[in-house]
Amino acid sequence: MSQNFDSVLNENRVFKPVPATALGFNRWHIDSLEEYKALHAFSINDPAGFWGAEAARLSWFRKWDTVLEWTAPDARWFVGGKLNACYNCVDRHVQAGHGEQTAIVWEGEPVAPRTSHAVAGSKYASEPEIRRLTYRDLQTQTSRLASALKSLGVKKGDVVTIYMPMVPELAIAILACARIGAAHSVIFGGFAPTAISERAIDAESRIIITADGGYRRGDIVPLQKNVEDALALLTNHGHIINHVLVLQRTGHEPPSKRFSTGDTRGSTVMHWWHDAVAQASDACPCVEMDSEDMLFLLYTSGSTGKPKGILHTTGGYLAFVQMTARLAFNLMPDAGQLFWCSADIGWVTGHSYVLYGILMNRVPTLMYEGAPNFPQNDRFWDIIERHRVTQFYTAPTAIRTFMKWGDDLPAKHDMSSLKLLGTVGEPINPEAWIWYQQHIGKGRCPIVDTYWQTETGGHIATPLPGAIPTKPGSCTLPMLGVDAAVVNEQGEVIPANSGGLFVIRKPWPGMLRGIYGNRERFISNYWGRIKDPKTKEPYYFSADGARRDEDGYFWIMGRVDDVIKVSGHLLGTMEVESALVSHPGVAEAAVVGVPHDVKGFAICAFVSLKTHWLKAHSRNPDDSLRQELKEHVAKEVGALARPEHIRFAEALPKTRSGKIMRRLLRDVANGVEKITQDTTTLEDFSVVARLRNDDE
Ligand code: WT7
Repeated sequence: MSQNFDSVLNENRVFKPVPATALGFNRWHIDSLEEYKALHAFSINDPAGFWGAEAARLSWFRKWDTVLEWTAPDARWFVGGKLNACYNCVDRHVQAGHGEQTAIVWEGEPVAPRTSHAVAGSKYASEPEIRRLTYRDLQTQTSRLASALKSLGVKKGDVVTIYMPMVPELAIAILACARIGAAHSVIFGGFAPTAISERAIDAESRIIITADGGYRRGDIVPLQKNVEDALALLTNHGHIINHVLVLQRTGHEPPSKRFSTGDTRGSTVMHWWHDAVAQASDACPCVEMDSEDMLFLLYTSGSTGKPKGILHTTGGYLAFVQMTARLAFNLMPDAGQLFWCSADIGWVTGHSYVLYGILMNRVPTLMYEGAPNFPQNDRFWDIIERHRVTQFYTAPTAIRTFMKWGDDLPAKHDMSSLKLLGTVGEPINPEAWIWYQQHIGKGRCPIVDTYWQTETGGHIATPLPGAIPTKPGSCTLPMLGVDAAVVNEQGEVIPANSGGLFVIRKPWPGMLRGIYGNRERFISNYWGRIKDPKTKEPYYFSADGARRDEDGYFWIMGRVDDVIKVSGHLLGTMEVESALVSHPGVAEAAVVGVPHDVKGFAICAFVSLKTHWLKAHSRNPDDSLRQELKEHVAKEVGALARPEHIRFAEALPKTRSGKIMRRLLRDVANGVEKITQDTTTLEDFSVVARLRNDDE
């Protein structure tokens, strides 16, 4: 399935944990395999005892009455408990006398290349912009913004859409929502206007927080413009956004495009962030939330064209994320740590391990605004060196890119501050794992390969760095409190080293509580396929294929549904297909994943064109049309969905019942047949399709 499947199958190197002090940690939270195993057994046998103790690490306004109420697939955790997420990340630290400690270290992207310091007139300063926010700063600023949101009519339970660059105000916006009990729905800044409007409609959101722009690879991402384009689409759908709040980040819009607070766009009132907070009170207490009140929605791709609003609630998510962050990354306050997760907050990784999990543990978190290759390919190593990052967490696709850029780049930097490295988002091939260990970790740092999903809230399987020996390419063993297994369709655990389906058999606090507004899809997507063979209670199915080896280690093989992981980002094949067929020249489209040495998978789209459209516009199925279709998808969905290959076909191969034969297309895309260079020959699948018709 993955491009390195063979090497994963044959991988048998084992790396044992080293003593904490050898790495400069005070200690490991869990420091032996025996201790991990005993704790894991306890956590599964006595979930109330185990999770009660974890939840007690949070600050509650009212303690829960019952740890768990479970009627599959509905879990209620810490029932009756009252707490607030912003309070747990910010105010409690101020209350405890840590108000002056650094909560966030932020670095902006714009900076001149180091080699051209002397270049006069460079549009960038030689040193990047850096901001440090203490817990007290966060308290004041989240309070002000929260007051401003309240004065715009935002109430507990409302959904606030956030579409922002990686700047501290993004963290402030999220925490301000949590402060007043509004749910945040963050949309990754790389998504297009259509995606914003779809998500705002689905979430019934009436307010959007954005910025005039954000810096990315030296360019400006036109966030405000995208929101304004989305407003037009929303109006067509009869959905009114009452307010748009805009942070001034770039100030790049020409005067003709600028607005003043109070100006309108249709029925929407525009506000500058700085105006809104200028008059806002910094006295805005954290609202008491029920443990099961919604904390956020985060949209993720599924096997239909429509993204799913994954719903997380307050108490369980916070308890799970504070624990997984603490244990997987060995977080400790007051120990000189600086944690850096390079993910954008627009993805769940950023929610859980740029913000919530790290702030709750009172370890400073680093946020970087931009791209890894601006102004040069060693920006990440430069950041690690200058800020003395201690734990670094990134994605396999990034690691493979760094490998391509060469060993000399990390070698140029002093990265001796690093104590631990993490990876997330897709299976990591052993070659990349070893490179990461050697060239970034200098053979010293443990690697934690964390397997999880938007739906799971936090880590499901990962090495605990002081306890679990690692094997390159394996996410090793289940997280404490997580009852994970590899089973067959009947729910039976299968023998070691056979391929099966990854399930979770018992509820865990960080689990999704639903898909917003779509109960049926929640049940059919996650709970409808696999059951406990005896009790018939449904299991949670992650949609990943996996195997377990003789040591019980998990080896994730990748998705078994119609989604593709492109550079670690989940994309529904249907989303891309719908975007393609919305082009006037496209009759039909089918999208499959093809292995790619950096991206993991890339998108290959088979497209059949409307002949009358070709004639009417004197167009040919050629490279210029391929380019146009790629751009069209990028415009409709976002650049991350841009197909790598477009292959034109007379017609798409179908079964007798009319289903597109995806397996055949996948074989063709992955097969020995070369991507056709002949730009005018259409592929004809009729013969192969006839041959295959019976076994689909
Ligand atoms: C899918 C979830 C987890 C946060 C970021 C992605 C794949 C994730 C790993 C890993 C192998 C992994 C799975 C999963 N995945 N981490 N360490 N090893 N596969 O969240 O976008 O919801 O994607 O990412 O296929 O189902 P997501």
